[in-house]
Amino acid sequence: MNYKIAVIRGDGIGPEIVNEAVKVMETVGEKFGHSFQFVDVLMGGCATDACGKSYPDGTAETCRACDAVLLGAVGGPKWGSDKPAEQRPETALLNIRKDLGLFTNLRPATMRKGMEDASPLRRETAEKGFDIMMVRELTGGIYFGKRERYQTEDRGQEATDLMAYSEMEIERIGRQAFELARLRRKKVTSVDKANVLATSRLWREVMHRLAQEYPDVTYEDMLVDNCAMQIVRDPSQFDVVVTENMFGDILSDEASQVTGSIGLLPSASLGEKAPGLYEPIHGSAPDIAGQDKANPMATILSVAMMFRYSFHLAAEADAIEQAVDAVLSEGWHTADIAGEGAPVGTKRMGELIRAHI
Ligand code: IPM
Ligand code: MG
Repeated sequence: MNYKIAVIRGDGIGPEIVNEAVKVMETVGEKFGHSFQFVDVLMGGCATDACGKSYPDGTAETCRACDAVLLGAVGGPKWGSDKPAEQRPETALLNIRKDLGLFTNLRPATMRKGMEDASPLRRETAEKGFDIMMVRELTGGIYFGKRERYQTEDRGQEATDLMAYSEMEIERIGRQAFELARLRRKKVTSVDKANVLATSRLWREVMHRLAQEYPDVTYEDMLVDNCAMQIVRDPSQFDVVVTENMFGDILSDEASQVTGSIGLLPSASLGEKAPGLYEPIHGSAPDIAGQDKANPMATILSVAMMFRYSFHLAAEADAIEQAVDAVLSEGWHTADIAGEGAPVGTKRMGELIRAHI
């Protein structure tokens, strides 16, 4: 098959890690008989520099004409929160998620063999292993609610961010979680703050309704503060964790760190019709940009997710994941991963993974 891929290299380490991921795609293509056409799309701080807007007109249309989108990372101190919204890279990220209707964000966090020493977990806990599929709702909640800032009479300025969820939005993400659980260890943990928030009480009601439709899946509710604690206490208790946008943002960073390095974690953002978007969870790391120090593994593993979820090519996805595991268990590591001996650079890590494929 021939696939057309929109490639957003972005800012900071984005271009270097995407280069390695693109080369991995080509290697997989040679081995399994696929070809790829890559379409460069400018988005993020680099787009602000080039044309004054982080999300140039036509970005979504170009992506929609492709089979999948690969994104490196966007952002950096140069385009900080003091800048107008249309210049900030984060705006571009939120816009593309919304415009492509990517309401499901999958963020797997797995204890990979060979990473136990790098994990901040207690040795016994790390050795027990874990494999969490975090399902984050990505186009609703406080991220997309009404924002206001106004002057009060006696308390200075005040600002509000509205958190809203409809039954429709909750049900469609919930269904994704239950369907995924059926393909895994058949357990769903729904995370909310139903002891305080109205949105969470609605969330819980809808999830309970869905749970009845999936009697073969074990279901539990968990409050978000407790979940944050359980992830470091015993992550092996989780299979699929489903939660709203902001809780998912926070918990997925936490879950990624207990794997030993955020440099290893991929993600997939999926919708109903539009192409899926695949990106590492980590940011653009401007402090190490252009120095051949960044870990390309999260982007490479994002490509594995692209093969699995957008193209339904499981053998190709497995080949990439197994190559990453093999390289890690041989003790190779980039600077973000604790380990013995000198770390290798971005390019060398990419080569090692391709050699295993
Ligand atoms: C993420 C990031 C984004 C988010 C930011 C950069 C807007 O933290 O993808 O997790 O909060 O969704
Ligand atoms: Mg985040």
